[in-house]
Amino acid sequence: MEKLLIKGGKPLKGRVAVSGAKNATVALIPAALLANDTCVLENLPQIRDVSVLKEIVEKMGAKVQMNERGTMEIVSSGLCNSHISNGKVKELRASYYLLGALLARFGEVSMAYPGGCDIGLRPIDQHIKGFKALGAEVEIEHGIISLKAKKLAGAHIFLDVVSVGATINLMIAATMAEGTTVLENVAKEPHVVDVANFLNSMGAEVKGAGTDVIKIRGVERMHGSTYMAIPDQIEAGTYMIAAAAIPGGDVVIESVIPKHLDSIAAKLIEMGVEVQFNGDSVRVRNHRRPKSVDIKTLPYPGFPTDLQQPITPLLAQAEGTSMITESIWEGRFRHVDELKRMGADIKVEGRVAVIEGIESLSGARVSATDLRAGAALVIAGLMAKGETEVCNLFHIDRGYENLEGKLASLGAEIKRINY
Ligand code: EPZ
Repeated sequence: MEKLLIKGGKPLKGRVAVSGAKNATVALIPAALLANDTCVLENLPQIRDVSVLKEIVEKMGAKVQMNERGTMEIVSSGLCNSHISNGKVKELRASYYLLGALLARFGEVSMAYPGGCDIGLRPIDQHIKGFKALGAEVEIEHGIISLKAKKLAGAHIFLDVVSVGATINLMIAATMAEGTTVLENVAKEPHVVDVANFLNSMGAEVKGAGTDVIKIRGVERMHGSTYMAIPDQIEAGTYMIAAAAIPGGDVVIESVIPKHLDSIAAKLIEMGVEVQFNGDSVRVRNHRRPKSVDIKTLPYPGFPTDLQQPITPLLAQAEGTSMITESIWEGRFRHVDELKRMGADIKVEGRVAVIEGIESLSGARVSATDLRAGAALVIAGLMAKGETEVCNLFHIDRGYENLEGKLASLGAEIKRINY
């Protein structure tokens, strides 16, 4: 077992580069399977979700190679299996994109229900509703989802909730359907646009990604392509928060797309933090204790739920009372109990957390309950007086490439040890 040991109180200084976007990558890999050909994906993050997905598609007959610079070659001409027996699908949520990709390519697929972070109910009814509208028969039995269609046909689908996963999955599934598919009330996250761009580079005709309505004109077949994933806006936001966490911090975060960081930048500025964009980098400086703010998580371009947990420790030490309203996931406050062990004064009532800022958190032994909770506890450890131990690191490893290495390069006293 491994844990992180963090000695708090040192302001971060220096430059750090952001890796490729996790939530784009976990959709790009399944999307690559649409072509009976070779795809090369560049700038992928070296994280556990990517290696698990690699194992799953290899087991299905694809040949996959990834180098240490994050370039993955996927040869899917040998893909022979649309029944995904691999229990690993339960290790990550995004395995649901295999449903859309294999349904489109083979007209059938069966797979165990996907897993992922425990952050509340995670239904996939909108995915299923969309697959049915495209002409698939759907069966769910003993935890296995099976989809079958003689020929998918374009359809008009209005999503009841704005869902990133359903938007991407239906976009993938509709690429080779007969006729045109119109998806309405869709998610506008940067990774939705990234996947649409990749699909288009493979020969698909997807228009409107990044707006409320996406139109997909079905094509006969898709071909291989070389494509570079966008930088991870949540990783970038996490380092922006970490830079602001300790007065005296001065960090330049490189390889970012500034537009993707508007909401986190605006919130940090409201807290009194200096944020300056320059080309594809952002400099974050903080000289004083941050001011309290209210945050409501919303679909893009609103404040991302995935940064709600990482920013909580800042609010825990801010001047005054802050309020967080989590409107996406009802169970995304499991980090709060851990932060309380570090002295935080936080009350959670349903989807709202009220945070009374205290002078200083104190180091404690805490446990990551999910991916972004892990990031929150690491940031709390950087801020706290004394030593913090963070365990359950597999959650962090699912989605952050070399978190402790990047933080150590900024001067943080953090190390991973076996115990
Ligand atoms: C994606 O999850 C991300 N995961 C999550 O990131 C992120 O928190 C979430 O989008 C919101 O931005 C991946 O991309 C792999 P949704 P996803 O479908 O697609 C409801 C992280 O930390 N809903 O947009 O599963 C749902 O309950 C992770 O990196 C339905 O009701 O999220 C939620 O309230 C965690 N029915 C809301 O919609 C459905 O069929 C948004 O979910 C689908 C979703």
